[in-house]
Amino acid sequence: MPPPLGEIYDGGLSIREGGVYANFVSSIDGIVALEGGAAASGGVISGRNETDRFVMGLLRAFADAVLVGAGTVRAEGGKALWTPDYIFPAAGEAFAALRRSLKRDTTPRLVIVTARGDLDPSQRALQVGALVLTTNAAAEQLRKALPEANEVRGVSDGDSIGVDQIFATLKAEGNETILTEGGPHLFGQLVAANRVDELFLTVSPKFVGQQGQSFGLIRGVDFGRTLKGGRLLSVRLADSYLFLRYQLDRSPSPSGGG
Ligand SMILES: NC(=O)c1ccc[n+]([C@@H]2O[C@H](COP(=O)([O-])OP(=O)(O)OC[C@H]3O[C@@H](n4cnc5c(N)ncnc54)[C@H](OP(=O)(O)O)[C@@H]3O)[C@@H](O)[C@H]2O)c1
Repeated sequence: MPPPLGEIYDGGLSIREGGVYANFVSSIDGIVALEGGAAASGGVISGRNETDRFVMGLLRAFADAVLVGAGTVRAEGGKALWTPDYIFPAAGEAFAALRRSLKRDTTPRLVIVTARGDLDPSQRALQVGALVLTTNAAAEQLRKALPEANEVRGVSDGDSIGVDQIFATLKAEGNETILTEGGPHLFGQLVAANRVDELFLTVSPKFVGQQGQSFGLIRGVDFGRTLKGGRLLSVRLADSYLFLRYQLDRSPSPSGGG
């Protein structure tokens, strides 16, 4: 890593070429998404913590593509971009230098997965342009609705897109090293399909509480008693925030679990 990044991170970081890695921030009580997933939750849960934003930028800087579900894009709305310098502008030049050294494009490709094609064309990320993977049923309408900067691909005849199809399309486009920033519905499918190598999880020193509207890291998938897991690779601490790095178990879980 270029020296300024190593200094802020307080050490080196490398991401395996061709790896798939995820980044989330969670509260102490395990909440990742607020208000049924309608709220832009990450910034609230992290309290817009500067170190967390730096780590988000750094992880984006390693990626060929940043993969997100449409729910995350809708919740974030407005001016959000999924680029390293948007989230932590102070290190923008160093992120760019890292990308040059990795022979990456200037910015990671934003890849959005949507079945229904419900995206707001006025959102800044869609003005800049993304690769949008959707169903064949939604593709034509979405192509008309979104600015030309976007590439809309109908990649499924069904009412959702299979995880294998998502990665096949990414690979065909030359995107090998993939960061996913969720959200929990998409992440659950990726974990269930054993597609995620690593999870970078920030634990923010806050409680959210819940009465049914908030949810955790994985939504829409239930592993029952056949729990999935991984191995803790590193723990970092800054301002009472924990920065955890897990290697996820990609083999099918053993049956049972009790
Ligand atoms: N704390 C954090 O670090 C963090 C990170 C990310 C997100 N979040 C929060 O999570 C919440 C959103 O949660 P979410 O689980 O709804 O987000 P999500 O997984 O990004 O979005 C779900 C939507 O993505 C599309 N989608 C997912 N899998 C698909 C598939 N296989 N095929 C086709 N489309 C697919 C669908 O879009 P359509 O409905 O358009 O078909 C689905 O409704 C927000 O509050 C957000 O702020 C928090």
